[in-house]
Amino acid sequence: MTTMTRWWRDAVFYQVYPRSFADSDGDGVGDLPGIIAHLASLAETGFDAIWLSPFYRSPMADFGYDISDHSDVDPVFGTVADLDALLVEAHRLGLRVIIDLVPNHTSAEHPWFRSSRASRQSPHRDWYVWRDGSPDGGPPNDWQSQFPRVGPGWTFDPPTGQWYLHSYLPDQPDLDWDHPEVVEAMSEVMRGWLRRGVDGFRIDVPQRLAKDRLFRDNEGLAQEPDPRFVGRRYDEDQDHVVDRLRAIRAVTDEFPDRVLVGEVYVLDQRRMARYVAGGDRLHLAHDFTFLRVPWDVAAIRAAIEGALEALGPDGWPTWCLGNHDHGRIATRFGTDGRGEARARLIQMLLLTLRGTPFIYQGDELGLPDSVVPPDRVVDIHDRDRVRGPMAWAPPSVAGAGAGFTTGYPWLPLTDQAERLNVETQLADPASMLSLVRQLLRLRRSTPALRQGDLRLLDGPPGVLIYRRALDGDRLTVVLNLGIDDIIVSTPWVPPCGRILLGTTPGREGESVDGALRLSACEGAVVRTDDDR
Ligand code: GLC
Repeated sequence: MTTMTRWWRDAVFYQVYPRSFADSDGDGVGDLPGIIAHLASLAETGFDAIWLSPFYRSPMADFGYDISDHSDVDPVFGTVADLDALLVEAHRLGLRVIIDLVPNHTSAEHPWFRSSRASRQSPHRDWYVWRDGSPDGGPPNDWQSQFPRVGPGWTFDPPTGQWYLHSYLPDQPDLDWDHPEVVEAMSEVMRGWLRRGVDGFRIDVPQRLAKDRLFRDNEGLAQEPDPRFVGRRYDEDQDHVVDRLRAIRAVTDEFPDRVLVGEVYVLDQRRMARYVAGGDRLHLAHDFTFLRVPWDVAAIRAAIEGALEALGPDGWPTWCLGNHDHGRIATRFGTDGRGEARARLIQMLLLTLRGTPFIYQGDELGLPDSVVPPDRVVDIHDRDRVRGPMAWAPPSVAGAGAGFTTGYPWLPLTDQAERLNVETQLADPASMLSLVRQLLRLRRSTPALRQGDLRLLDGPPGVLIYRRALDGDRLTVVLNLGIDDIIVSTPWVPPCGRILLGTTPGREGESVDGALRLSACEGAVVRTDDDR
């Protein structure tokens, strides 16, 4: 019997995108030794765990989400020994490490697929999804790749005269999870890394593991909550996905204290919640309704309420507003020049909600999207701009690579690296990084922020307000999303209280006697004071 703690409920996760984190050997691409060199700074900042995007051996058609050998590290990132060293160092520093697991597909260069496509009699033929074309000679059905530029989700393979399914690039053929040998093979992949000491997995596109067994056409059905479409697509999120999740969870539970977080890209929060229900599926699910929310109090509130309701009183939310696939927070919410102020509010929101926060590398600095000139575009799905490398030191001191690399970076850094870098921000108490460090410290030292109840209030227009409470400790988080200065008064703020932390530096300790003054895009955490 293994022991299970729920450490992940108290943790704040930091997503490391290895290609863009830190380059130790000057080839312009980040690597595992580069990550190891900065683990202490992540621990010192106050993160509890990291999620590593893929480092496996890969032709890099989808920058590592196309895996050709699940048990090896790609040479561009280092070696398996480097990964072992990373785990040792992270654990020594008290950081847990989860890694990406990509169960839906492999690279077309994976030996399984090479064997599968070689002949219809191959022992691996049915590990992937092969079908005859439609009578008119086209693909078997109307399923499309997730990447619009790819078009159909099927590619004809002349050697064996059939079509294979790929939910993403043709270089990423989908595995067939109805085949027990696939489930077993992927279970062995998981066991291999769990034995090496990883603390769990971020599961790539789990909703794709269950497709309609009749292969019905989508006929325009969309997952988007768009009134023009009714119903759900057939190429994902079918009810038997629960069996897949159970299989993945069962393997994970062979090891103590491991966690599974799913990239559950299902925009109906009740369906999303099924991925973490029942205690036998995933532990956590990224909620893309929340991630895609616009800058609007009602929408943010509805997304939070929707998640809490769908997950129920025993469920545990996960809060994430950025990753390597979506526009940067400071850019997305900053079309009118208020991006930095909003990014600060967003960090306060993420780190004061009830649930496990995930922060994407660079968002702790308030990085905007990189500007990527056409001749440097490498991704088919317009995601290069959110994958711009980290800046560790000012270019005026560290050179154009800003401490990320001594070479030529695989993607351009932000043109604001002189200010938006770790070293400069560490030295500046008013910086975004200093705010994030303070928020992390506050969360760690305040059980009410981690485990307390959450109650959303109907605030004045433009203001998001919620209360967190545990064992008599009562906190009110007030976030002014609007562009006007305001005074928020009782009953929203306590008649007697004080500011624990504000997004504007220096407001800690200020008393709040029934009124809280906030500038545009300013927020504060207020503790109710019982002593006066
Ligand atoms: C997930 C990853 C994304 C990748 C896709 C296919 O959405 O986050 O980067 O392209 O899956 O693996």
